[in-house]
Amino acid sequence: MSEDHLIGPADEYAKLPAEVEVDGTPYWLVRKGEKGYGLLMAICPHAGGDVRKIDGMFFCPLHFWTFDENDGSCLNMADERLMRRNVENRNGVLYAIGSPY
Ligand code: FES
Repeated sequence: MSEDHLIGPADEYAKLPAEVEVDGTPYWLVRKGEKGYGLLMAICPHAGGDVRKIDGMFFCPLHFWTFDENDGSCLNMADERLMRRNVENRNGVLYAIGSPY
């Protein structure tokens, strides 16, 4: 059973994607839809590399997988993707909710 985790005031994340840590795990906070937010785990699903931001996408330097900046889908390996986690904006404060999926 997962709990909701405070990310912080939405005003602090005017510029996205932004690096955040939730429950000891690194994520990228990204835009979801026009005004929503989402989390993409910054750990590569291939072999655990650190997922970094480059030129409008995410990139793993270990074996060069790349990922869509908004939905985390892998751009060079079909059916692979970054783990996601939902975000709720409660009166201007962002919370990670639910479990990674
Ligand atoms: S660990 Fe990321 S591409 Fe292999």
